[in-house]
Parts: sequence; C-alpha cells; structure tokens
Amino acid sequence: MDLKIDNGNGVDSWKEVMLIYTSALKQIETKLEILNDEFQHVHQYNPIEHIKSRVKTSESIVKKLKKNGYESTIENMVEHVNDIAGIRVICSFTSDIFRLADMIENHKDIRVISVKDYITYPKASGYKSYHMIVTVPVYLSDRIVDTKVEIQIRTVAMDFWASLEHKIHYKFEGNVPERIKNELIECANMVSDLDARMRTLNEEIKTLAIPEQ
Ligand code: GTP
Ligand code: MG
Repeated sequence: MDLKIDNGNGVDSWKEVMLIYTSALKQIETKLEILNDEFQHVHQYNPIEHIKSRVKTSESIVKKLKKNGYESTIENMVEHVNDIAGIRVICSFTSDIFRLADMIENHKDIRVISVKDYITYPKASGYKSYHMIVTVPVYLSDRIVDTKVEIQIRTVAMDFWASLEHKIHYKFEGNVPERIKNELIECANMVSDLDARMRTLNEEIKTLAIPEQ
C-alpha cells in the first residue's frame, strides 16, 4: 500500500494516522451521545435516532487523492481528504437536524470548518442532508492533534433515499438513465413531503391531551 511509510522511528505513520482518525470518531460519537442523553433528560425526547460511523479505506483514500490530482502521501491525505473519519447521524425530524447542528456549533471542543446545507438547498439529484466538516482535539501521550471529521446529519427518510440513490449511482457508474434520474427526483420530493407531514403531525400531537380511557 502506497501510504505505508516508516517515519524513521520504526513507527508506521499510516497506522498512527488511522489511529488518530479512529479516536476522533470515538470522540465525536461520544459527544453526540452525551448531547442526546442530556436532551432526553431535559426535554424527554431524543433528537438522534441512530449513529453510523466509518473510517475510509486506504483504497478509497488513494482513489480520492488521485481523482483530485494529488500524490498519495500522508501529508496530502491529512490536508486534502476531509472525510477520512465520517459519521452519519440519523434524526426523526428536520427540526432535530438543525437543533443538533446548533449544539455541535456551540460545543466548546468542536471547531466547525465548513457547512453544506443540502436541506435548505438540495442538490439537483434531489439529495438532502446537512454536512459539517469539524475538527476535534485528540489527546495523545505527547501532543494534541486537531483531527477532521465529516458529520452528515439527515432524517430517516433522507437516509433511505440516499442509500438507494448511492446504489443506483454505483451500479450505473455515474451514467444513470434519465428515466431513473427523474424517478429519483420524484421520490426525493415525496421524501420532503413525508418529512414535512411527519413533523407537523408530531407538533400537533404534542399539543393534544391524552383522552381519558
Ligand atoms: P466528496 O463527494 O466526498 O468528494 O465531497 P464533496 O466535496 O463533493 O462534498 P459533499 O459535501 O457534496 O459530499 C460529501 C459526501 O456526501 C459524499 O461523499 C457522499 O457520501 C454524500 N453525498 C453527496 N452528494 C450525494 C448525492 O447526490 N447522493 C448520495 N447518495 N450521497 C451524496
Ligand atoms: Mg465522501
């Protein structure tokens, strides 16, 4: 593997870097779980349905570097690949997404580097999700490393759509037939409609008293 480099002290830099990214993921995951638990404690309600996380494979890192015209070096991957550590947070309602994004932005240990709000401004494909690139400090025995993590926040319905669209995109290697593209856009509109209706329904039931049995 091109990225395996001995740093001169007999330490494999590749393994060390991946250990740092794995630690950063754990940090973010724990912070999100704490925010979720606190929210449950204060409001008796969980904004997070579930969390998925992954570290990018070496093959995928090399592919991305090549695609963007960079040589496969540790320096280039740390500098130019923002999604080596990736976490996907699935919420029930769109309002939870923005609430969670606010909590992340206000977290003292997390620094937000960039935000892409594909919920307010969906992609032409119909893709909706809220993306944040953040850094979190990873404490090693001899230094602190601010490490990048990509956070994607979306609803259950948006996630359902994105996973099918991803499969279709992969199958057709990007050349998706027009008819299927249009069908996907229509499904994305249905997802938006469903999310809006579920949110309204949820707001409505919160105001209703439970009838006596
Ligand atoms: P990469 O796509 O990772 O090179 O990054 P980018 O600079 O284009 O950033 P963007 O925030 O647009 O996308 C980051 C990630 O979001 C992607 O790697 C995918 O996981 C996801 N994503 C973005 N657009 C789409 C889409 O149209 N469909 C699906 N299924 N996922 C998408
Ligand atoms: Mg990516």
